[in-house]
Amino acid sequence: MEYIRTEQLKKKFRRFDENGEEAGSTYALTGVDMTVEAGSFVAILGRNGSGKSTLAKHFNALLTPSEGSVYIEGLDTKDDKNVRAIRSGTGMVFQNPDNQMVSSIIEEDVAFGPENLGVESREIARRIDESLKRVNMSAYIHHAPNRLSGGQKQRIAIAGVLAMRPKCIILDEATSMLDPQGRADIMDTVRELNAAGITMIMITHFMEEAAHADKVFVMDGGRVIMSGTPREIFARRDEVMAAGLRLPMVSELACRLKEEGIDIELPILTEEELTAAVLQAVD
Ligand SMILES: Nc1ncnc2c1ncn2[C@@H]1O[C@H](COP(=O)(O)OP(=O)(O)OP(=O)(O)O)[C@@H](O)[C@H]1O
Ligand SMILES: [Mg+2]
Repeated sequence: MEYIRTEQLKKKFRRFDENGEEAGSTYALTGVDMTVEAGSFVAILGRNGSGKSTLAKHFNALLTPSEGSVYIEGLDTKDDKNVRAIRSGTGMVFQNPDNQMVSSIIEEDVAFGPENLGVESREIARRIDESLKRVNMSAYIHHAPNRLSGGQKQRIAIAGVLAMRPKCIILDEATSMLDPQGRADIMDTVRELNAAGITMIMITHFMEEAAHADKVFVMDGGRVIMSGTPREIFARRDEVMAAGLRLPMVSELACRLKEEGIDIELPILTEEELTAAVLQAVD
C-alpha cells in the first residue's frame, strides 16, 4: 500500500533582490514523481539545495504544491479538510537538536504534541512512558534537556513525535550534528521503529545510513534523478558522483580494490560482504 504519492510536484518560491523587492521566482521542485510504500524505510539523498527539505515539507502539508499533487494515504494535501489528518499522521524531526526542545523538563517536552492534539491527560502520561521507552530514554523523564547529548536530544525529539502515534516519521538530516555514537543510536531507533511498522523517511548526507534503507531516492535540481534499492543505487558510482554524492566508504573501497585487480563482484554494501569477497579473491 502507498503511503505517499507525488505527481509532477513543482514548488515555486518567490525571489527577492538585495532591496527586498520581489525579483521573480525560482522552482525548488521541478517535477517530482515518487511513491513511498507504507511501512518502508526510505532514504532521500542529494547535494545541498537539491530540494530534499522542500519535498519533505510537502509530506506533512507544511508546504503545498505550486503545481502537481501530493497524496498522503490518498488524501490530497491541497484540500484544507485533509490537513489535520495528514499532520497527525506524519511527524518531522529536524537537524538541530537544540531548536526542538520546547520545555525545561523532558516529560513536558514529549507531552507537547499530544496536548496540542487534545489527548486527555492520563492517555498522555501513558504515551510519554511508552515513547521514552521506545527511544531508550525512560531514565531521563524528569531531567532537563540541557544536560543531554545531541543524540539523546534527538531521541527525545523522536519520542515527542511518537507520542502523537504517527504512521510516518521524517528525519531531515537529524543525525548531521551528532557524533558517531549519537548517529548509531538514532540509526538503531530508526530501524526499530520501522520494524514496528512505522514508515521512516530519512534525509541524510551519510551514505552509510542510506545503505540500510529499503529504497533510496537521489535528488538533484529539484527532481528525483535516481531511485532504487541501495544496492542498485550504489552500483551506479558515476551517476552518484555526478549528483554530488559519494559511495558508502566500504563500497568505494571495494571499487578501488577491484580497480587494483582484485577479483570481487560489485557492488559491496557491508563490511561483512567486503571481508567475504576479499577472502574469496585471495584464496
Ligand atoms: N522558503 C524559501 N524561499 C525561497 N527559496 C527557498 C525556500 N526554501 C528553499 N528554497 C530554495 O529551494 C532550493 C531547495 O532548497 P531545500 O532546502 O529544499 O534543499 P535541500 O536539498 O534540503 O538542501 P540542504 O541539503 O542544504 O538542506 C534551494 O535553492 C533553496 O534556496
Ligand atoms: Mg535540507
